[in-house]
Amino acid sequence: MTYVIAQPCIDVKDKACIDECPVDCIYEGPRKLYIQPDECVDCGACEPVCPVEAVFYQDDLPSHWGEYTSVECDFFADIGAPGGAAAQPPLDTDHPVVAHEPQQTPAS
Ligand code: F3S
Ligand code: F3S
Repeated sequence: MTYVIAQPCIDVKDKACIDECPVDCIYEGPRKLYIQPDECVDCGACEPVCPVEAVFYQDDLPSHWGEYTSVECDFFADIGAPGGAAAQPPLDTDHPVVAHEPQQTPAS
């Protein structure tokens, strides 16, 4: 089990979550951030600070965003567990589910 960043992060990328993570396991893609499930220690510090409530404990993920658990896992299939996001440049490709989401427009 791990924490998951779901659809509301897309095109928002507030990054408050990064500052809270004690193990630096939140990685940046072009449109969304991703939690490395093998590096996350389930501390939960990232969940309350997200202004758009994009972070969920896996079991609490709303069913309409259920695919985001596999989105996070699949995203790291190639890069594995780099051991810290700070030393990693932002990744240049999003997971296809994220890449195909319509552009988010700010609330007016
Ligand atoms: Fe995204 Fe929220 Fe973090 S918008 S970058 S999950 S603080
Ligand atoms: Fe970091 Fe959030 Fe996991 S703060 S350790 S990604 S629960």
